[in-house]
Formats: sequence, C-alpha cells, structure tokens
Amino acid sequence: MRTFKNLLVTGGAGFIGSNMIRYLLTGPSGFAGRIINLDLLTYAGNPESLADIAEQYGKGTNPRYVFVQGDICDRALVERIFKDYEIDGVIHFAAESHVDRSILGPEAFVRTNVMGTFALLDVARTAWAGRYSPHHGSASADNSPVLFHHISTDEVYGSLGETGYFTETTPYDPRSPYSASKAGSDHLVMAYCHTYGLPVTLTNCSNNYGPYQFPEKLIPLMIMNMNEGKPLPVYGDGKNIRDWLYVEDHNSAVWLVMQKGRVGEKYNIGGENEWQNIELLQELINIVAEETGKPADSLRALITYVKDRPGHDRRYAIDCTKLKTELGWKQSVSFSEGLRRTVRWYLTNPTWVEHVRSGSYRDWIEKNYEKR
Ligand code: NAD
Ligand code: DAU
Repeated sequence: MRTFKNLLVTGGAGFIGSNMIRYLLTGPSGFAGRIINLDLLTYAGNPESLADIAEQYGKGTNPRYVFVQGDICDRALVERIFKDYEIDGVIHFAAESHVDRSILGPEAFVRTNVMGTFALLDVARTAWAGRYSPHHGSASADNSPVLFHHISTDEVYGSLGETGYFTETTPYDPRSPYSASKAGSDHLVMAYCHTYGLPVTLTNCSNNYGPYQFPEKLIPLMIMNMNEGKPLPVYGDGKNIRDWLYVEDHNSAVWLVMQKGRVGEKYNIGGENEWQNIELLQELINIVAEETGKPADSLRALITYVKDRPGHDRRYAIDCTKLKTELGWKQSVSFSEGLRRTVRWYLTNPTWVEHVRSGSYRDWIEKNYEKR
C-alpha cells in the first residue's frame, strides 16, 4: 500500500477538493501526513469551506495544512512548492468545471485544464526524476514512492443512448469545451506515464453532489431557488440522465486508488444511480418541502422549462466494476440520505452561500491569509 507524507492537492478550495481535504485530515482515511492546498481562488474556490481545518491544522508547530493561493499554470510557483514541501503525491482537482461556462467562454478551460495539467505534470516529471523508473511498464511502478493522481470526469466518454455504460475502455468522445479540455488533460497524464514512466493514476467520475458545491450546479441551484421562491430552470425536456454520487464516496474511491490502484491505470467511479433531471427535481422538491414546511405544490409550480444547453449530452452512466472488484470499493451514502444531508446543509449554511455568490469571502482571505 502506498503512503504519502506531503500531498499537493490542487483546487482544494473547490467543491470536491475541499471535501477531500476534510476527508483526509479529519475523516476515516488514515492519512497522517501534510496537505499543501494550491488554489487560485477563482469564483469557484472558497477557503471559507476549510476555515475550521485551517484553524485546527494551519497554525502552530507542525501544521498539517498549508494553503497557497496561486495558479497551477505558474510553473515557477509549482516548482517551488514541490521543492519546499518535498511533495511525494499530487491529487489534481483544479479545473474550470462548469459546462455552461465552457460554452460561454472556452478559453479559461483550455488554459487551466490543459495547460495547467501540463505544467503540473512537467514539474512532477523533473522534480521526481530518480524517484521513479523511466521505463514504461516497470514492475516496480506499483511500489513507487511518488504518485500523480488526476481527477477526471465521465463526460470525456461523450453521450450514451438509452442503454449501455461507460467502461474504462470506452473511446473518448468529448462534446463540450469543458469535456474536450478534460479529455486533453487525461491524454497528457497517460502520455506522461507511457513516455516518461511518470507514476500516475486517473479516475473518471460521474456527477457529484454534497456540501460546499457552488450553487450554479443543478442540485444546489435548485435547493437555493426553492428556498428563495425563484424559478427552477429545467433545460430542454428535462429527460437528460445523470448518474449521481455523494462527494465523500467519490473521495473514498480516489483515496483507495491512490493507495492501492495499479500505476498507469484508469478507474471509473460512479453512483450506479441514474436519474432523469426532472425526476431528480421532483425528489428534491419533496425533501425541501419536508425540511422547510413549504407546500410541495407551491415548489412544483416554480418548475420552468427553459432553452436547452447547446450540445447537451443526453445520458451518462458509469460501469465501475473494475474499482469494485479490483479494489473492493463500496459506496456508503444512499441517494436519499445524501440528498437529505445536502438539502439540510444548504438550508443551514446561508452565509456560505451568500459569500460565494457575492464573492465577499475575499474579505475573509484578507483577514486570514494575507497577513501570515
Ligand atoms: P470546482 O469548480 O468546485 O472547483 C475547482 C477549484 O479549482 C476551485 O477552487 C478553483 O479556484 C480552482 N482553480 C481553478 N483554476 C485554477 C488554476 N488555474 N490554478 C489553481 N486553482 C484553480 O470544481 P469541482 O466540482 O470540485 O471539480 C473538481 C475536479 O473534479 C475537476 O477537475 C472536475 O473536472 C472533476 N469532476 C467534477 C465532477 C463534479 O460533479 N463536480 C465530477 C467528476 C469530475
Ligand atoms: O458528469 C460529471 C460532470 O458533472 C462534471 O465533470 C462537471 O464538472 C459537473 O459540472 C457536472 O456536469 P453536468 O453538466 O452534468 O452538471 P450540471 O449540474 O451543470 O447539470 C446537471 C444536469 O442538469 C444537466 O443535464 C444539465 C441540467 N441542468 C443544469 C442546470 C445548472 C438544468 O436542467 N438546469 C440547470 O439550471
């Protein structure tokens, strides 16, 4: 089993990254080392999501949590981080992540997702020279003392019809600027492994939900709009299908792959939990109605069909047999339980939502980080 002393987590102030840091430092992971969180703090990155972690681990002697505000494209900065903190593992979450934004402005997606991943890989290749075998297929790779783990998405596989599943060998067929940029990053990761022998693992996951997700994504957007009596915008006919997974179950899978996965392999992660958007919304309405006391009918009346997303992928569905059989991964949070936890979290954390929407968390950064 691989262990790590100093993990570089990129994008650790975002939704999945912040949940991962919490899982590693306070959850059941058994991780005993230190985390360096490199995040640019774009609109989607909010260090308030980790305020308690920074408080608990970021101060005093032997801190286990270090936050660095910076860009993964800044090669000199990434080099310094590798050297100063003796990085032996990378979990690369940082990305532009929202499909609708990629349609409106694709450039940032190509820059961060492709060029940023390239910069990280290339620094890792040189910083770790001598710590891994440059020969592709080396038998010692699985015991490598260093590892680059890349977080990717099921969207690289394209769109499914009514039947079938994405497996690890499904050909890539990305169809939005977001998924194309993620596909590009995946190819670079595998190419660095194949060409230079860089020890990598890669996971492609389905739709995540849970606390700390930016309220532009379907589930938190709908919860907040219901709470505020605003329209619930359903794209197209509402029958597009996504496979939903609670964020902590994504992260437990990532950690398992990092510890025990075979180097150079990719693993699909999924919820085995397909929902049409409109059916998911009906489910969410029932939970919000129960939690708030608002009549379900008044919430249903807010449903508004709007123009479809251009190029909207119809169905995603993941086959994660490899992860389950090879590494013994299991989900721990049922969809009904996860949705209820998520609804409760958003209803009881209005300040977090207000701060990410208004960008006012930046004042918090000034107070808590700049002066150190
Ligand atoms: P997010 O948008 O919530 O967070 C992204 C984080 O990356 C933010 O904190 C942002 O500040 C940071 N970032 C952006 N550009 C940066 C740069 N140039 N340098 C440093 N930091 C930068 O995203 P998320 O939903 O947490 O997704 C994290 C990763 O997981 C992404 O790679 C995404 O493609 C992948 N993924 C997401 C899902 C999902 O359902 N959300 C599913 C599968 C895979
Ligand atoms: O599949 C994994 C991907 O899931 C990740 O790689 C992406 O980073 C993540 O953003 C997510 O992409 P989606 O496009 O599937 O997620 P989103 O929440 O934007 O939309 C989910 C579905 O709901 C999709 O079919 C579009 C629809 N939708 C979305 C919004 C925001 C609506 O009908 N109305 C909305 O207002």
